[in-house]
Amino acid sequence: MNSIKIALIIGSLRKESFNRKIANALIKLAPKSCELEILEIGELSFYNQDFDENPPKDWIKFREKIKTHDGILFITPEYNRSIPGVLKNAIDIASRPYGKSAWDGIPAGVISVSIGAIGGFGANHHLRQTLVFLNMPVLQQPEAYIGEAAKLFDLKNELSNTSTKDFLTKFLDSYSDWVLKFVEPSFLKSESDSTSTQHLQ
Ligand SMILES: Cc1cc2nc3c(=O)[nH]c(=O)nc-3n(C[C@H](O)[C@H](O)[C@H](O)COP(=O)(O)O)c2cc1C
Repeated sequence: MNSIKIALIIGSLRKESFNRKIANALIKLAPKSCELEILEIGELSFYNQDFDENPPKDWIKFREKIKTHDGILFITPEYNRSIPGVLKNAIDIASRPYGKSAWDGIPAGVISVSIGAIGGFGANHHLRQTLVFLNMPVLQQPEAYIGEAAKLFDLKNELSNTSTKDFLTKFLDSYSDWVLKFVEPSFLKSESDSTSTQHLQ
């Protein structure tokens, strides 16, 4: 069976980031039908519209990489009730040049992770506002606000909280089933083509 390819984009560069730990847990919890890959954004240069005509190589590579995925799952902290600048930079880079956004039409999911009790609600919804403009359909339910993140991991940095594990497993099931609706025609096409095991976009 073909698997769908999901990119994980993490909004924190911190070494001990809880968001990254959640991303790593998701990779372990993912169903076989769902291949998760972290797309790094920390080395991307700052977006500058002056470079649209002749973009830096890292922008081009990032934009191309995004297009090879069936879905994009954003996992983000909340900074001052919004998303961190590093995540907005990555989003802006791949949204250009105008009319050629790499994000266009890709089904997204949003998980916000915070040490606070309200689980990064503000960041989650600021991000959703941007995704509307980028024409990325976003999974509505279940919503994912992971609060009190510092209490969820063991000494080996593994997700140890059982109810969070169960919730993330259900979230991934819902998200991957929903993403499949967007890629199903291609799947059927590739399954009838016995010479190709590659997933078609
Ligand atoms: C600049 C800054 C602003 C922050 N603002 C918020 C905030 O608005 N809401 C919140 O819940 N946590 C806020 N925090 C705390 C983060 O939830 C916490 O640092 C979290 O661990 C960041 O995610 P990470 O562990 O993946 O790096 C802020 C942290 C920083 C560094």
